Amino acid sequence: MADTPLPPDASSTVDAERGAWKSKLGFILAASGSAIGLGNIVFFASNAYQYGGGAFYLPYFIALFVLGIPVMIVEFSLGTLTGQSFPVALRKLVGKRGEYVGWWTTSSALFITMYYITILGWALSMLFGAFGGLLTDPAVAPFTGMTEPTAGPNATVYFFGMIATPWPLLAVVAIWAMTILILWRGTATIEKAVRVFVPLMWLFMIVLIVRGLTLPGGIDGVLYLFTPNLDGILDVNVWQGAFAQMFFSLSLGLGTMTAYASYLPKDADQINNSMLVSFLNCGFEYIAGVAIFSMLFVFALNPAGTTLSLSFFVIPQGIANFPFWVKGFGVFFFFLLVIAGLTSAVSLVEGVAAPLKDKLGISRAKALTFVMVPGIIGSLAFALPFVVDPDLTGDGTLGLTLLDILDHWVFRYSLLVGGFMECLLIGWVLGAANLRQFVNEHSKFSLGPWFDVLIKFVIPIILGVVIFFTLLADLTGGLYGEAYTINGFEWLPVVIPIFWIVATIATSIFLTNRPMHESTPHNVPAEA
Ligand code: PHE
Repeated sequence: MADTPLPPDASSTVDAERGAWKSKLGFILAASGSAIGLGNIVFFASNAYQYGGGAFYLPYFIALFVLGIPVMIVEFSLGTLTGQSFPVALRKLVGKRGEYVGWWTTSSALFITMYYITILGWALSMLFGAFGGLLTDPAVAPFTGMTEPTAGPNATVYFFGMIATPWPLLAVVAIWAMTILILWRGTATIEKAVRVFVPLMWLFMIVLIVRGLTLPGGIDGVLYLFTPNLDGILDVNVWQGAFAQMFFSLSLGLGTMTAYASYLPKDADQINNSMLVSFLNCGFEYIAGVAIFSMLFVFALNPAGTTLSLSFFVIPQGIANFPFWVKGFGVFFFFLLVIAGLTSAVSLVEGVAAPLKDKLGISRAKALTFVMVPGIIGSLAFALPFVVDPDLTGDGTLGLTLLDILDHWVFRYSLLVGGFMECLLIGWVLGAANLRQFVNEHSKFSLGPWFDVLIKFVIPIILGVVIFFTLLADLTGGLYGEAYTINGFEWLPVVIPIFWIVATIATSIFLTNRPMHESTPHNVPAEA
């Protein structure tokens, strides 16, 4: 089966009406803008810390070269090979079962978008806070009357005070509005936005790193991050953490990169593009790690706690200790979070809207509306200020609890399962050698047969093992979220994962079985 040549009409030339990047630079900025986001700033540093600094980066580098770059080559080339977004591209290349997988990951992407935008809404609220009472000593929690968190450092008080007010609901709507605005005319407007935002986020990150490293003692944090440490290397959690981090950070496993690549000409060099985007992303991630770790060490801050705590309370607390221009740096930091996250949210929404357009033949405005309506409802649900834990020790508000439980399941499973299935389908049904031949035709550098071995065996085995152990830990360790104080909502830890699984599978079955819009030619190989 693996030797069957590519279906004759599988390949396409770029369809200008569907959308097309004006230049290679535009595409690289957009794809790296997708990759660089909250994952690089918020999640990388807390993962690296949690898994012991130097112990994290061997698994991380292995993840980059063995999983990250090869899977990105696959996702990019699916886009150029077919000129279609993920589920439709898979349908053309590997048949109906591919489309089921494609819609399943696409609908999971919508769930991620919902809470990703809520977190951005909180970052925006903190940005406003940085102008006001957030970085003053003692921090002035907004609307203290609504909630009285007692203990805890300043920024923590501010954050919990803030999420217990309705203001973040407004911020969430504002982020959705900006996202849709950037997506309104497709590649044309995306390209305009990323030309401004992506260079700006590099600039801001460089300012922060210079600040962190010039603080007396800042270099110690960097040493912690870079000193190899093999202690944790046998711990399967460290590997799971590194792999999930790599997939999330590179925007892989959900089909997002396929949507962006489908707006490239067919002869785009996808090896070169994948390496560029991956190195830009991981370079940024490392710089962000350096900036954050230098601050942690200088101010002896403890980043333990939830992943969000690092960006929302620990770093602001460090910034509040800066010798000068505290508010300026505070504003800088949250502005950086917002723009980095916004260019990722844009790609997440495009990754859901483009397949709807391709499959159903509807207009861009209609597709965006179909994504936006459930999307905003979800994002607002996660921003619900209703206080369920009056001590604000567990998750504090209903929205944050919902978010934390959903993230546990979606983050851990959807990207890795998506990557796993994608490699099996491309490796075995389409034939990794077929894809490699297509990629090599347009690339300066040639992939050898080792690429087929990676896609057919190595990556599915690694991901399969990691998914298995993660599932085992989840099944034996008690239901995630059960321990939270969520008065009156004790059923949430059961209902949330069930809702996610049922909703994504039902969406996948429904959309796969809808007739394909006529002008989207598709070809199902006879044996699929
Ligand atoms: N890569 C983005 C980040 O690091 C998140 C993302 C994941 C975006 C998957 C699109 C698809 O924040």
